[in-house]
Amino acid sequence: MEMKFGTLNIHNVDLRMTAGFASQLIKSGLPQVAFAGRSNVGKSSLINSLLGRKKLARVSGEPGKTITANFYEVDKQLTLVDLPGYGFAKRSKAEKEKWSALTEGYFESNPMLRLVLQLIGIRIGITDDDMMMLSYLEHYRIPYIIVATKCDKLNKTKLNQACKSLLEENELESNTKIILYSSITHAGRDLLWNQITESCVGGTDA
Ligand code: GTP
Ligand code: MG
Repeated sequence: MEMKFGTLNIHNVDLRMTAGFASQLIKSGLPQVAFAGRSNVGKSSLINSLLGRKKLARVSGEPGKTITANFYEVDKQLTLVDLPGYGFAKRSKAEKEKWSALTEGYFESNPMLRLVLQLIGIRIGITDDDMMMLSYLEHYRIPYIIVATKCDKLNKTKLNQACKSLLEENELESNTKIILYSSITHAGRDLLWNQITESCVGGTDA
């Protein structure tokens, strides 16, 4: 079935699973787009912004507190996956292990995964943890694009500077796509939806 942005009813959303364990991860059915990034980078806020909702995906007051992967089914056509954040220094060893089990479990042989949105904070830039994540995605040839979040925090000049240094200072692949986003102004929304729906064309595994 062909799917076009515009025909997708983004208000028809169903939280299908809150997975705390690898065995609960969904890996069949609809095409999936996963949101990865540091804790507090804005993954849940981005999902809310894309879906035009305020409180669907829980925005954390305390970053990194809940280590779960949340599956939001949109209009029975695709699933947005809010992955647990990384880089939270205060986490215990057990919590870090839980994060690894869930994250690796998710990426490992997942035929429905179409695209990873790798979030980075526009002001903080690409951290060592982000770089590790990107290497992982490259290594397993998982398609990804970078979404630079919280762009409302910079004025136009600063934003241009930040984009330039993103491209210059890191060892990003030269063809890496970067989308600038703000979950407050929703800047970047149409562009990102186009990427999401484009990557999900091809439909279900049923
Ligand atoms: P974890 O669930 O801990 O992994 O964090 P997360 O990546 O889901 O981040 P979350 O969406 O909870 O956002 C963290 C904080 O950043 C919240 O206080 C948000 O309000 C804020 N935030 C998120 N996106 C934006 C944005 O585009 N602009 C601004 N100014 N603030 C944002
Ligand atoms: Mg979150």
